[in-house]
Amino acid sequence: MKNYTLITGATGGIGIELATVFAKNNHNLILTGTSRTKLEQLKKHLNSQYDVDIYTIDKDLTHPSSAKDIYDEVTNQLMNVDILCNNAGFGDYGLFHTLDLSKQSNMVEVNVQSLMKLTYLFLQDMIQKKHGKIMNTCSTAAFQSGPFMATYYASKAFVLSFSEALYKEVKDQGIHVMALCPGPTKSHFFERAGSDQRNNKLLKNFKVADPKKLSEFAYKCLFKKRVIAIYGVKSKLLIFLERLLPRWMVRNSIYKLQERK
Ligand SMILES: NC(=O)c1ccc[n+]([C@@H]2O[C@H](COP(=O)([O-])OP(=O)(O)OC[C@H]3O[C@@H](n4cnc5c(N)ncnc54)[C@H](OP(=O)(O)O)[C@@H]3O)[C@@H](O)[C@H]2O)c1
Repeated sequence: MKNYTLITGATGGIGIELATVFAKNNHNLILTGTSRTKLEQLKKHLNSQYDVDIYTIDKDLTHPSSAKDIYDEVTNQLMNVDILCNNAGFGDYGLFHTLDLSKQSNMVEVNVQSLMKLTYLFLQDMIQKKHGKIMNTCSTAAFQSGPFMATYYASKAFVLSFSEALYKEVKDQGIHVMALCPGPTKSHFFERAGSDQRNNKLLKNFKVADPKKLSEFAYKCLFKKRVIAIYGVKSKLLIFLERLLPRWMVRNSIYKLQERK
C-alpha cells in the first residue's frame, strides 16, 4: 500500500500551497474540495511539475456523511494516509443574531465536525501502524473570543484544544498532531466570510501572509514535531501578550478591531 498525504480544502489559497509543498517533497497526494474542476486543474498543474501520484475527491464537507465517504473511498482504493491535513474551513462576518443560522451550522460541520470525524477515522489506521502525522489548520483566532465572527473563532478554539489534547494522547504511539495557526493570509477567506476588506482593521494592522511561505513553514514545523505552529513574529508576540492581559481587555480590543463603521 502506498502512502499518501490527504489535504482537505486543497483548492483554496492555503490548500493549494500546502499541496504544492507536499508534492515538492515527494509525497503522493489525495486532494479534496467541493469543486471537481478546480481539483482537476490543480492535479494537472502539480503533475506537470512533480512526479507524485495525485488522487482527487470532490465532497462537500457540510454533509455529515462526507468524512466517512472520503475514508471509504480512500481505503477502497488501497491508499494509506500517513499524513492528514485538515485544512478546509470558512468564516462568516457579522453580529451572530443577524447571520444565517444554516451557514453557522455548516461552518461548525466543516471546521469542527468533519475535522473531528476525519481525524477519528484515519487515526485508527495510524495507531495500528504506529506511524502518522495530523496537521489541523487552526488560526490565531483560536486564542481569544471573536466578536463579529463568534462562531468562527469558537470553531478554531475547538481545533486548538482538540489538537493539543490528541498530541498528548498519541505521541508515544508514533503519531504527531500539530495545530497550524496562521494570522491573516492571502486567500479567498475574507471574501467568502463576507467581510469588507477595505474597512478591515485586522487586514490594515497585520501584514497579510503569503500562503506559500506559510505552507513551507507548516511543512517544516510538522516534521520538527511542533505542537502549535504560530506563523509570524507579530502573531506570536500578540498571543503571548494576550495571556498576560485580562480577558475583558482582549475581547474589547478584538471587538474594536473587527467592528466596521
Ligand atoms: N486566510 C486566512 O486569513 C486564514 C487565517 C487563519 C486560518 N485560516 C484557515 O485556513 C484554512 C484554509 O482557508 P483559506 O484561507 O485557504 O481560504 P479559502 O481560499 O477560502 O479556501 C477554503 C478551502 O476550504 C474548502 N471548503 C470550504 N467549504 C467547504 C465545504 N463545505 N466542503 C469542502 N471543502 C470546503 C474550499 O473548497 P472549495 O473552494 O472547493 O469549496 C477551499 O479549498 C481554513 O481552515 C481557514 O479557516 C485562514
